[in-house]
Amino acid sequence: MTENMTEKKLLRVAVIGGDGTGPEVTAEAVKVLQAAARLENFEIEFHDFDLGGERYLKTGEILPEEVFQELKTFPAILLGAIGHPDVPPGVLERGLLLELRFRLDQYINLRPVKLYPGVETPLKDKGPNDIDFVVVRENTEDLYTGVGGFLKKGTPDEVAIQTAVFTRKGCERCIRWAFEYTRRRNAKKRLTLVAKTNVLTYGHDLWRRTFQEVAKEYPDIQTDYNHVDACCMWMVKNPEFYDVIVTTNMFGDIITDLAAILQGGMGVAAGGNINPEPGGTSMFEPMGGSAPKYTGKGVINPIAAIAAGGMLLEQAGFASAAAKINRAIQVVTGTKMKSQAAGKMGYSTSQVGDLVVEALGAL
Ligand code: IPM
Ligand code: MN
Repeated sequence: MTENMTEKKLLRVAVIGGDGTGPEVTAEAVKVLQAAARLENFEIEFHDFDLGGERYLKTGEILPEEVFQELKTFPAILLGAIGHPDVPPGVLERGLLLELRFRLDQYINLRPVKLYPGVETPLKDKGPNDIDFVVVRENTEDLYTGVGGFLKKGTPDEVAIQTAVFTRKGCERCIRWAFEYTRRRNAKKRLTLVAKTNVLTYGHDLWRRTFQEVAKEYPDIQTDYNHVDACCMWMVKNPEFYDVIVTTNMFGDIITDLAAILQGGMGVAAGGNINPEPGGTSMFEPMGGSAPKYTGKGVINPIAAIAAGGMLLEQAGFASAAAKINRAIQVVTGTKMKSQAAGKMGYSTSQVGDLVVEALGAL
């Protein structure tokens, strides 16, 4: 049978380049995904979506309903960055990023924390074998729901209330997913719950009880608990202790910035907003922002976006292509790039993309 007669698998990917350097880094991820698809003999169809600060400033639209409905038909979205210096903080974050996470019910925010070879970490005496864990952050509840309000706003007696919402269903589905993920990740099989049960005696009590109940179904997984403040300390002192961390939305947001710096910064840190249900739409993004000061200069690091592309393939069922992208990235960080900082890589943004493509071909 010739290649043409074989039915190739097709993956449809929506691309939201977004603001600032977002489109520059997604372009490199697209390039690498195309190369991986050629190597692994499947096809990817990319569809560009014009969303973000520019569109909002021009038309007032953030996420028009028909665009949302179209995005929902894709199994995966690749997102560059959202954030524009002329748009007040919160407008695009809530209107686009959080809106997509919530409405697409992407209840897992998966953030692998891996120090690639050749990448500098601020931790003294720690290397790639020490910094290799994953944070599973709940992605649809907590302080992020926007429940709250003001009383007597603008007066000296002003009251502001911002409520953290936790549900049994919301924490259970996240905790259960984290157990499953821990089971298949490696031989360590350790899952640490990070919360603040000594102070948040309602919401985090619900988390603790749910974690303990679900743990009974996973006797092969070693479980553990850290208060979030202690976790910040341990993550810096003994990162090698961690395998998988499961945590709440707000704490997950904070500890994954700490973790990102340990793995070499925003140039390399990637994340996935995953809806694991059949037919769900997941969204993958570099953790860095839109970096206005580097925009259009070809100096921003695309590794995080490329790694996000690898995660996308993994979730979409192309595990071997994903693994290859991971290995190619490590060849490039380990043997080519001088630094992971914007403008200091020793290569331009698109040259780094080319290097990953080249490394893929040579694997
Ligand atoms: C992140 C970001 C977002 C968050 C912001 C931009 C709303 O910090 O993805 O971690 O808080 O979740
Ligand atoms: Mn964050």
